[in-house]
Amino acid sequence: MANPEQTFKELLDTHARTVERTLEILLGDIPFEGEIARPSRLMGAMRHSALDGGKRLRPFLVMESASLFGVSAQQAAIAGSALECIHCYSLVHDDLPAMDDDDLRRGKPTTHKAYDEATAILAGDALLTLAFDILSREETHGDAETRIKLVKLFAQTSGLGGMVGGQMLDLEAEKQASISEDEILTLQAMKTGALIRCACEAGAILGNASGEDRQRLLQFGKIIGQAFQLADDILDVTSDTKTMGKQVAKDADKGKGTLVSLYGLEASQQKARYLLEEAVNTLQPFGDKAEILIEAARFTIERKN
Ligand code: IPE
Ligand code: IPE
Ligand code: MG
Ligand code: MG
Ligand code: MG
Repeated sequence: MANPEQTFKELLDTHARTVERTLEILLGDIPFEGEIARPSRLMGAMRHSALDGGKRLRPFLVMESASLFGVSAQQAAIAGSALECIHCYSLVHDDLPAMDDDDLRRGKPTTHKAYDEATAILAGDALLTLAFDILSREETHGDAETRIKLVKLFAQTSGLGGMVGGQMLDLEAEKQASISEDEILTLQAMKTGALIRCACEAGAILGNASGEDRQRLLQFGKIIGQAFQLADDILDVTSDTKTMGKQVAKDADKGKGTLVSLYGLEASQQKARYLLEEAVNTLQPFGDKAEILIEAARFTIERKN
C-alpha cells in the first residue's frame, strides 16, 4: 500500500460518511416494522445525540476488521452503526448531571442541555434498544446464528460486565481516597475497552472468521481499547475544549484516578507507545492485510481529539 497513513485517513472519512447515511435512515421519520409511532421529541433528541459528530471509530473498527475476511464496508456498516448507537447512548448518559455533568459534547450542547434530563435519559434508552433491533434484522447478516452471536457479544460488552459495569466502577472510584493501577485498568477495560473490543470482534463474527482469528481480533481490541482510554486521559490534561469538542481538565477536577494521575504524563505516553507495539504484534499473522488496522491503532494513541 502506497501510504497507509493517508489511506487510513481517507477511509476513516469515507466510512464515517457511510455510517452517517446508515444512521440517518435508522433514525428517520418512518417507523420500523413492529413500531407503533416515533415521538418527534424523542426522535429529535436521538438524532441530536447520534448524528453529525464523533470520529466514528467503533464502526470503523467493525468495518475494517470485517474487511480482513472479505466483508464489504456497506454490509459491515449496519452492525457498525448499531454499535455507534450504543456508544452514543453511553455518551448521553455519561454527560448527565448525575454522572459527569457535562454541557458540551462533540462541539454541541449535551443532549440534556439541548432538551432536558428526562428526554436525554429516554433518548439513551431508545438508542440502546434500537441497536439490538438493528442486530436482529436480516439486513445486518443473512445468517440467524451469526446475528445471535452479535447480539450476545454486544449485550455482554455493553452491560453489567462491560461498559455499564465500568461506568459504575468509575463513579465509585471518584469517591475513593486512592486507587491502584489494577483497579484503574479493570474499570477502563470495562467502561471504554469493552465496546472497542466488541467492534473488533464483531468484524470477525461478520466475516465468519476462525476461532483463532476471532481471538486475535479480540486481543487487538483489548489492547487498543486500553490505549484509547489512556489517550483520552492524556488529552484531558494536554488538549483544549475547542479541539476536543468537550470539556477538558475534568478528571483532576473530579479527583478521578487515571494512569496519568498515577504515573504522570511522560510515563503514560511511554505506556501508550508500548501498547501500540503490542497491538501491531497481535496482527502480525494477517500480514499486509492488517495495515489499516495498524494505522487505526496508531490513531488511537496519536489522535488530537
Ligand atoms: C469518548 O469516545 C468516550 C470515551 C470512551 C473516552 P470517543 O472519543 O470515541 O468519542 P466520539 O465518538 O469521537 O465523540
Ligand atoms: C466515558 O469515559 C466512557 C463512557 C462509557 C462514555 P469519560 O467520562 O472519560 O469520557 P468523556 O471524557 O466524557 O468523553
Ligand atoms: Mg465518565
Ligand atoms: Mg465523561
Ligand atoms: Mg474522559
